[in-house]
Amino acid sequence: MNSLRVELGDRSYPIFVGAGALQQCDLTHYIKAKQVLVVTNETIAPLYLEKLTQLLSGYEVEQVILPDGERFKTLEYVNKIFDQLLTVKHNRSTTLIALGGGVVGDMTGFAAACYQRGVDFIQVPTTILSQVDSSVGGKTGVNHPLGKNMIGAFYQPKLVVADIDFFVTLPKREVAAGIAEIIKYGLIYDADFFVWLEENIDKLMAKNQQALTYAIMRSCEIKAEVVAKDETEQGIRAWLNLGHTFGHAIETHQGYGNWLHGEAVAAGTMMALDLSLRLGWIDAHLVARAKRLFETAMLPIVPPNNMSVDEFIELMSVDKKVLNGKIRLILIEKLGRAVVTDSFDMNLLKQTLSIGQVSSLKQ
Ligand code: NAD
Ligand code: GLY
Repeated sequence: MNSLRVELGDRSYPIFVGAGALQQCDLTHYIKAKQVLVVTNETIAPLYLEKLTQLLSGYEVEQVILPDGERFKTLEYVNKIFDQLLTVKHNRSTTLIALGGGVVGDMTGFAAACYQRGVDFIQVPTTILSQVDSSVGGKTGVNHPLGKNMIGAFYQPKLVVADIDFFVTLPKREVAAGIAEIIKYGLIYDADFFVWLEENIDKLMAKNQQALTYAIMRSCEIKAEVVAKDETEQGIRAWLNLGHTFGHAIETHQGYGNWLHGEAVAAGTMMALDLSLRLGWIDAHLVARAKRLFETAMLPIVPPNNMSVDEFIELMSVDKKVLNGKIRLILIEKLGRAVVTDSFDMNLLKQTLSIGQVSSLKQ
């Protein structure tokens, strides 16, 4: 088992990574009292709930099993967690455990942030995407019909356990979606890691344990470093949103869950690269390398062709990075370095926003 820490003073916490991490990490060390509420969903419960509860003998373990899907990532379903906490009379010393992907993790973290003004929570992420991104760094929350992740809180877990044994049952499409966020780290922060990904993408797609462990560790190291520098996204943390302003617009437009988050991020990242190229910041060779990586991972490289430029702009203007009414984007300056900017020619952005329609005309 490998480990690293997210350094946030008295709110610092470890991340354990690797095969068997759940058994090896001694969860009970991070639970301060007897009450525990496990939050999971209908897909994951039959696969892994018992495995987790076996590690909690001696505790008063309750559970909430949510329906599965991004469309249930709402205040209404977070309220189901509160209903259960109150029904079983959990007090301030309770610990919530999120067992699932990013949807379960974001909702459980938000419930923990709000319940009795804040109780402990532990992340046990079960998808690649949630192990490399959503479980680390304390962004929690839910969607609103008018915008992705618009309601939420920064609230850090006490522990993250990224056990790659969960991936035995993870569908191929979800593997690919997680790889999209891994590629992001290479593009924004670590050129050598990007090269490693080019050399090892087939191994990752084939769920090779060694390759996955390395990719998850490196991704978590980068995320932990960025979060330690800028927990509440006043600056560099925004880099982690490469492709997300475009991607969130795609997810909202297509209906939550129809495009997976990682798929929307892949197409959104290609759009960010396209605009960076139009601005003359990067060359076509880098765009081609990224395109090849995403394609090898079976990820979309263009947005859906039923989204107009106006629809994109409308949805992108409810992004959390909007400042004084101006859309701000994460673009790439060179491999391994991103920038947050609102200084781009609107006409160039419009050309980028129409690449879905242009590419469908070519077919
Ligand atoms: P998800 O939580 O919807 O999980 C994907 C699917 O895989 C679900 O159907 C789930 O039930 C299933 N699943 C999970 N683990 C499994 C396993 N081991 N075996 C079989 N099936 C399994 O999606 P996700 O990609 O994990 O997370 C996406 C969410 O994370 C989005 O809501 C996104 O906004 C959020 N997110 C948050 C942050 C953050 O910083 N908080 C960062 C990135 C993404
Ligand atoms: N996923 C982006 C962030 O955590 O900041």
